[in-house]
Amino acid sequence: MARSNFTSEQWRASLTESTSQFSKGDFDAASWETFAQNIYYHPADIAATEDFHKLAAFLEQIEESKPADRTYYLSTMPQLYASAIEQLGKAGMHDDSVGHRRVVIEKPFGTDLATAQSLNESIHRTFREDQIYRIDHYLGKETVQNILVLRFGNTIFEPIWNRNYVDHVQITVAEEVKVGRRGGYYDKSSVLRDMFQNHLFQLMMVTAMEAPVRYTGEFVRDEKVKVLQAVRPYHGSDFSEFGIRGQYQGYLDEEGVPKDSQTETFAALKFYIDNWRWRGVPFYLRSGKAMSCRTTQIVIQFREPPHLLFGDQKSYRPEANRLVIQIQPAEGLQVHFQSKVPDSDMRLRLSDLDFRFDSSGKELPDAYQRLLLDAMVGDPGLFARSDEVEQAWRIMDLIIAAWRSPAAPQLFSYETGMWGPSESTDWMQSQGRSWFDICPVIH
Ligand code: BG6
Repeated sequence: MARSNFTSEQWRASLTESTSQFSKGDFDAASWETFAQNIYYHPADIAATEDFHKLAAFLEQIEESKPADRTYYLSTMPQLYASAIEQLGKAGMHDDSVGHRRVVIEKPFGTDLATAQSLNESIHRTFREDQIYRIDHYLGKETVQNILVLRFGNTIFEPIWNRNYVDHVQITVAEEVKVGRRGGYYDKSSVLRDMFQNHLFQLMMVTAMEAPVRYTGEFVRDEKVKVLQAVRPYHGSDFSEFGIRGQYQGYLDEEGVPKDSQTETFAALKFYIDNWRWRGVPFYLRSGKAMSCRTTQIVIQFREPPHLLFGDQKSYRPEANRLVIQIQPAEGLQVHFQSKVPDSDMRLRLSDLDFRFDSSGKELPDAYQRLLLDAMVGDPGLFARSDEVEQAWRIMDLIIAAWRSPAAPQLFSYETGMWGPSESTDWMQSQGRSWFDICPVIH
């Protein structure tokens, strides 16, 4: 439903055109035709309660009074989520005594802890938590789900997945794109709200969580939220020392961006997860627009061997082992390890083993395909729960407030097409570490 005045026939025609255009070459007109017979359009206004009563009657007529499951997908402006849900409630459309009633909500889920809590409270007046599906499309990406399989479907990774073997973890979501026409929205959000509070935290949670007792939505989400609960809150000088802020050159000329904007389009942040497994292991999270390439990767950087035996270490200091999990664009893994240079006197070189996730050649489903299907069949595992979202804001709110205050760390400018400001490289080096600045390792 939407406000425009289409008929169902007009709406089907418009969808036929866009679906055939965007379905990556495998559009089957006959299958589409059969499917499209079940698509209807209903003009209505979210502000009008009577429109929801009409919508309810319209749906009952389509369902011919047979019990049917319904998933309401709110593809609206975030400001309208609460009123749309209230209207569904007023029209009795949340009542699941005759079939499942689920509601799918997009990010952003609030803009800070207070707004997220108030949105949760208002949604909970109509829908129970188990009826609510909050989308974070990063969780729908195949390799993100594969992290759980890698960690908990094998025995060789888990024993070394902890502070005894891991020096630090890097999670990078680099984007080549700039803010484009989203300047108005982005300038208020910044990379912290747009990427960190949701996508980067989700990646950190699946990397750091403990094994759930069973692979069910609630058990997985219980373990994920514990990671956020263990994140050490920033205090005092952490706000400036634990992060780097950057803004790409030319950002101030983007449409909708104030000329004196201090909004960061790049951030690198260091977090500690204070639990038995991760105590003392820094998790470096970074993300930015206008960077050198589009890549999302998680690097597990292992410790150096306790005693270096081989080669002249003045001329070649062997790099420690590394596991690179590449989420996109291509999806796969790379393991870095030392091997002997053939026919040499025990000279070492860094070698790698690659695994490409889609080597079958089969196209992987888009994150949204996976998530919308899961919402329709009632599997909540890949959706954010209310406590998870609120905890993420609890961590982020403090950093956002400090970075908007007079005590904010300097905002460094960076050239487009780089890995953020050069100060970010220096910052890592000052801690005896370096960023893994390699564009996709798997092609
Ligand atoms: C969105 C952000 O949630 O994620 C965008 O609002 C960002 O700013 C996008 O570009 C990145 O998603 P993906 O799947 O392209 O990595």
